[in-house]
Amino acid sequence: RIAGPSGLVIFGVTGDLSRKKLLPAIYDLANRGLLPPGFGLTGFARRDWNAEHFAQVTKEAVMEHARTPFRERVWRQLAEGIRFVQGEFDDDAAFDELARTVEGLDAERGTGGNHAFYLSVPPSAFPLVCRQLARSGLSRSEPGAWRRVVIEKPFGHDLASALELQKVVESVFPGDSVFRIDHYLGKETVQNLLALRFANQMFEPVWNANNVDHVQITMAEDIGIGSRAGYYDGIGSARDVIQNHLLQLLALTAMEEPVSFDAASLRAEKEKVLSAITLPKNLDLHTSRGQYTAGWQGGEKVVGYLEEQGISPDSVTDTFAAVRLDIDTRRWAGVPFYLRTGKRLGRRVTEIAVVFKRAPHLPFALADTQELGQNALVIRVQPDEGVSVQFGAKVPGTQMEVRDVTMDFGYGHAFTENSPEAYERLILDVLLGDPPLFPHSKEVELSWRVLDPILQHWESSGRPDPYRPGTWGPDSAHDMMARDGRAWRRP
Ligand code: BG6
Repeated sequence: RIAGPSGLVIFGVTGDLSRKKLLPAIYDLANRGLLPPGFGLTGFARRDWNAEHFAQVTKEAVMEHARTPFRERVWRQLAEGIRFVQGEFDDDAAFDELARTVEGLDAERGTGGNHAFYLSVPPSAFPLVCRQLARSGLSRSEPGAWRRVVIEKPFGHDLASALELQKVVESVFPGDSVFRIDHYLGKETVQNLLALRFANQMFEPVWNANNVDHVQITMAEDIGIGSRAGYYDGIGSARDVIQNHLLQLLALTAMEEPVSFDAASLRAEKEKVLSAITLPKNLDLHTSRGQYTAGWQGGEKVVGYLEEQGISPDSVTDTFAAVRLDIDTRRWAGVPFYLRTGKRLGRRVTEIAVVFKRAPHLPFALADTQELGQNALVIRVQPDEGVSVQFGAKVPGTQMEVRDVTMDFGYGHAFTENSPEAYERLILDVLLGDPPLFPHSKEVELSWRVLDPILQHWESSGRPDPYRPGTWGPDSAHDMMARDGRAWRRP
């Protein structure tokens, strides 16, 4: 799978995502021999840069963040295809210049008229950029060539704005030319969920309400919001992470086996699950939202969310969110899915834990003090990527004492290959026109349908609950589990 003649134009190339993820990923693809030798990389931004400066910035980003070693020969070849266009999004002349630049790449580098436009800009700018791409003719391809657009979340602020955005983008690019990035789908461990479930015989027979007690999906971060106040405030953790990453993880965990792994079949199964999600009747009791206070984390004093630079002191933005969702299907009837995410939590970890029911009968007496845990299959998305199974084993000795132990598969031990970064895989798929790992607009819409009522409920229910940095969220998150007779796992 090597990309054919093509180029990528990045809007918002001076931003964080570009420097930390996109530019290094492009270099890594080139270094792995997966890009065409004449690849074109064009930056478009407001700043007064030129191609040389952009190339310099790209080189620094590569040196700092690329996964693969720096090789002068690969870099030089990539750098020859680097271009830069300076302009505002409402500047017609700048887009005309971009059109000439792209044509120039076709002539000089053989990009063949195949170009992808990566909108690494706030969604409020999508309509304008799309209109400009249409006006300047950039969105239209010659016969036999392609034009694609890549958009980053948040895909809207709620269902209504997501639909609106969708309309604008699809009025310029046909649906199959729109690639929505959810970078969690680019992660090896997330794709491995499909292998685990559908390439094996032993898991699927127990993957249902007869055996599973509940599922917990956690995406925790120890960092605060850093310099992202402008993006984060008013958005919050539920829109930032649950609407996309966590509902995608839920869909992959809960869906039926697709008839094949092509985009249409995969999306059809995800859509079925997403449309079967039901919300608890009492959202007060079964959801929780929090905001971190000042405190200590990793031996360092850290400020509270309200003291972060750029945050208004009365902000009610959630930096932690937890929800209980149910899936109204025969496979999952009565099995709650608990989702939680937050900043400034105990540590950085993403995992999916499928927690099984207790054995219906124990043929031996356990000591009164002993409480046997439940079997759990844990997919460790990151860090320490792998899968573990938790079960009870006899403690060596003359008594029948049973204790929880763990059986473990770790990527580091099992494979010598190292995992590509999520963005590498996804950018390559865009250039190849391979859509299975990109959520369809219908999935985005269904996810907002799940989240909208929760967000509306929160809006009318005062302030988020405070929690200290380094903890696992506010008390209300623990209370919501305790009400169901359960507890969050300590990852
Ligand atoms: C992004 C969120 O989608 O994912 C960020 O906007 C978050 O708030 C990031 O920090 C985490 O990604 P990863 O790959 O480090 O888990």
